Amino acid sequence: MERTLARELPNQIGNQVLIRGWLNNIRAFGKLTFVILRDRTGFAQAVIQNKEEAAKLSGLQPGSILTIRGQAIASQEAHIGVEIADPRIDVEHPIREVPPIEYYKPEIHSDLEFVLDHRPISLRNRQLAAVFRIQAELAHAYRLYMHDQVKAVEYFSPNIIGASSEGGAEFFNVDYFGYTATLAQSSQLYKQIMVGVNERVFSLAPFFRAEPSQTSRHLSEGKQLEFEMGFFKHWHEILDIQEGCIKFMVEYLHRHSKAEIDMLGGQIISAPSQVPFPRLTFQKAQQLYFERTGIDERSEPDLSPAAERELCAWAKEKHGTDLLFIIDWKTEKRPFYAYPMDNNPELTNTFDLLCAGTEITSGGQRRHTHASMLEGIRLKDMDPADFPDYLSIFKFGMPPHGGFGMGLERLTMTLLKLKNIREASLFPSDPKRIAGNRLKAHIFFGGENIRNEIIRILHQHKIQFEHMTHEGTPTSQDSARIRGTRMEEGIKALILRGKSSKKNYQINIPSHLKLDMKAVQEAVGEKCEFEDPAIIQERFGLIIGGVPPFGRLLNIDTYFDEQIQSEERAVFNCGLITESILMKSKDLFAVAEAKLGRFAKS
Ligand code: 4AD
Ligand code: MG
Repeated sequence: MERTLARELPNQIGNQVLIRGWLNNIRAFGKLTFVILRDRTGFAQAVIQNKEEAAKLSGLQPGSILTIRGQAIASQEAHIGVEIADPRIDVEHPIREVPPIEYYKPEIHSDLEFVLDHRPISLRNRQLAAVFRIQAELAHAYRLYMHDQVKAVEYFSPNIIGASSEGGAEFFNVDYFGYTATLAQSSQLYKQIMVGVNERVFSLAPFFRAEPSQTSRHLSEGKQLEFEMGFFKHWHEILDIQEGCIKFMVEYLHRHSKAEIDMLGGQIISAPSQVPFPRLTFQKAQQLYFERTGIDERSEPDLSPAAERELCAWAKEKHGTDLLFIIDWKTEKRPFYAYPMDNNPELTNTFDLLCAGTEITSGGQRRHTHASMLEGIRLKDMDPADFPDYLSIFKFGMPPHGGFGMGLERLTMTLLKLKNIREASLFPSDPKRIAGNRLKAHIFFGGENIRNEIIRILHQHKIQFEHMTHEGTPTSQDSARIRGTRMEEGIKALILRGKSSKKNYQINIPSHLKLDMKAVQEAVGEKCEFEDPAIIQERFGLIIGGVPPFGRLLNIDTYFDEQIQSEERAVFNCGLITESILMKSKDLFAVAEAKLGRFAKS
């Protein structure tokens, strides 16, 4: 017998059918047992009276793979108006283990962290699945619009590239056969190159951002819906295409994803086709925010998240749309390739599209002559030598051009009114997770925790040490006196910050010597400065005198000056300024997981 899918059952009333899928749940009512099966089209219900058949289900957990044969009959009870009567059950694959999360219920009430901890299974929940079916339709609608209406050509760009495409510090470096490569922050450089080939181009491209902060709208990895075009008369044609695109996509969802939207409570933002998205200049937007709230951010170079929310509220009240453009942004806040306004180079021909309170797109016109592009790169303190391929296109002819990058997860989140962008990413990466999984590194916080962990590690490695408690040790001289050790045996554990990456490093040197910043720069690959004590306190729960030479417990790269080894013993504060550990320096080298080098001068 052919398989019938759940959604096709209403067309099979009166017929013998075979359905296959996952056991979702079982309910017993007196002598009746109801079995709900899930397949790719939805849910089907079978009603069992026969005791032997019911017995086959005993002990089965959701996820068991079943085949059910029986007669499709009309039913008031079942949600699709049909159920399977007198079924014969085949257990293809029994599951006896209770699932870690109740995904089979209509709604999951657990918090997002728990849902993400069980991502592969929680995605089976009907509401969560609906979000990602809608996301798939959005991507499909984007392709349809760009291909059929804009007549743009799809391109596929590289993701491991030579230089940052957006500037700033938010990019990941990867080791590429001993060279340092960069993960693309967007396909910006390549979409411009492709304008030189096809004039109008688009892509669905991954992006990677080393955003150190944990916010409800930033991911470390996502997808951008990219677009770029050449030969416009006015750069606002880019906005026209962006607006047409969003309206097409929203309309497409209403036609193709009604069931999923209903499953999520019927909530979706408004973008009525006859209402143009308001276009406010950055300056007017700041003024409007000030007039509506009395909060004065008119001298800021950027809009705050609160201002973005307020401006969207205005667009909704005044125009009945959840979307609005902010145009003509300040040069200082836009990337090197942004086109400076002809009569005012303080401003750029750029825009952001805001949707329901959040930026979903950035875009604009690009510099298109070689001289102008060089100027843009230099103005942002970047190096033209990093962009040979990109710069070659401007030598050999580029028309006026521009485009946009729209975040797929931001779009999904705002369209569906989700609270957190992680709900719009199948396997979200952020500073605490990679592809949905919590980072395994153990990071310890606070002096006591860190001291306990150091002692645990030393015991674990059967290392001999002396743990001392004493009065506070504000300086290295004091420490030596109070502990009764020599200055040379003491270790100064310094926390630095990379000037470009903002990453922390720990450098450990003998306490009687001075740090050699040049040597540090050579070792870590960038200029460094001392980290602010307030930040050390906030980030690691440590005060300066108490920092131990165990950067590994803080998840930061750790370096040891070799001269520490020339003393037999090493002594250091173990997280608190009132406690120290004295041990053999060779044992310390064995457990500190540090890189060695020369970082001190006398
Ligand atoms: O504003 P962004 O950084 O602009 C660009 O990447 C340009 N190349 C676009 C252009 O064509 N000029 O990123 C564009 C969009 C953002 O508006 C946002 O929707 C999304 O990409 N995005 C992120 N989404 C989630 N998490 C992050 N860390 C994101 N960074 C960018
Ligand atoms: Mg932006």
